[in-house]
Amino acid sequence: MTGRGKRRALVAGGASGIGAAAASRLATDGVDVTIVDIDRERAQRVAEQIGATFAAVDLTNYDAVSQTIATWAPFDILINSAGIDQHAFFTRTSPRDWERLIGINLIAVLNATHALLPSMQERGYGRIVNVASEAGRLGSRGGAVYAAAKGGVIAFTRSIARESGARGVTANVVAPGPIDTPMLRRAVSDGGGKLMAAMTSATLLGRLGSSDEVAATIAFLASEEAGYITGEALGVSGGMGCGA
Ligand SMILES: NC(=O)c1ccc[n+]([C@@H]2O[C@H](COP(=O)([O-])OP(=O)(O)OC[C@H]3O[C@@H](n4cnc5c(N)ncnc54)[C@H](O)[C@@H]3O)[C@@H](O)[C@H]2O)c1
Repeated sequence: MTGRGKRRALVAGGASGIGAAAASRLATDGVDVTIVDIDRERAQRVAEQIGATFAAVDLTNYDAVSQTIATWAPFDILINSAGIDQHAFFTRTSPRDWERLIGINLIAVLNATHALLPSMQERGYGRIVNVASEAGRLGSRGGAVYAAAKGGVIAFTRSIARESGARGVTANVVAPGPIDTPMLRRAVSDGGGKLMAAMTSATLLGRLGSSDEVAATIAFLASEEAGYITGEALGVSGGMGCGA
């Protein structure tokens, strides 16, 4: 226990998939959850289901984030799970694609962290858990810019851990492998059965993971029990990153 009463969490990208599962798991664990997502309808639906509050915010927009999230501080926990992917070889992508991928997968993490980290440092307590990807450690055939953004999230998180450890704030990454979420289902419907087979066979367990399995790891890293863990990137990927 922090001795501060009920902990407050902001879950960025909490309207779907891993973020929604993390929001639900934290609410079950007794945390007061606020969901922020660009998808208002889904955010509202999830928030109603789990007894959370919600807001529709485009996390890539620094001004929007600083006029909303920053004014609701302090939070004890920040989970960054908003993201998008795109399956195309790098030579077939455009600078517009790069901006979109880096905007949501990396800049959104900077925006939310910039909004909430000062109050965490001031209070001497915080748990930041960023959802990157094994692609950020291993690279990704057909996902070069996504992988670059996720590698950026890992390096950024470790840097924040270095800057904030002495002020009671931990910062860690979960690096999922193929997880059965709307994002993955969209990719599979574009890429066909071959893509699904390639993804499952890249894991040691030969299957997709579930959002709940990732959420359990996020909840652990956000918990009191994980108080001596910081600057780590933990794969939740069926062993996909084994040896990385
Ligand atoms: N599903 C996988 O296999 C997998 C694997 C590795 C990493 N990840 C990462 O996990 C995280 C969650 O992915 P998911 O699979 O749950 O996807 P998802 O599509 O189910 O959820 C992503 C959420 O991000 C929100 N979002 C997108 N752009 C936004 C913006 N500009 N502002 C605010 N919210 C925005 C979406 O509305 C959605 O609710 C992502 O960062 C993703 O890169 C997923």
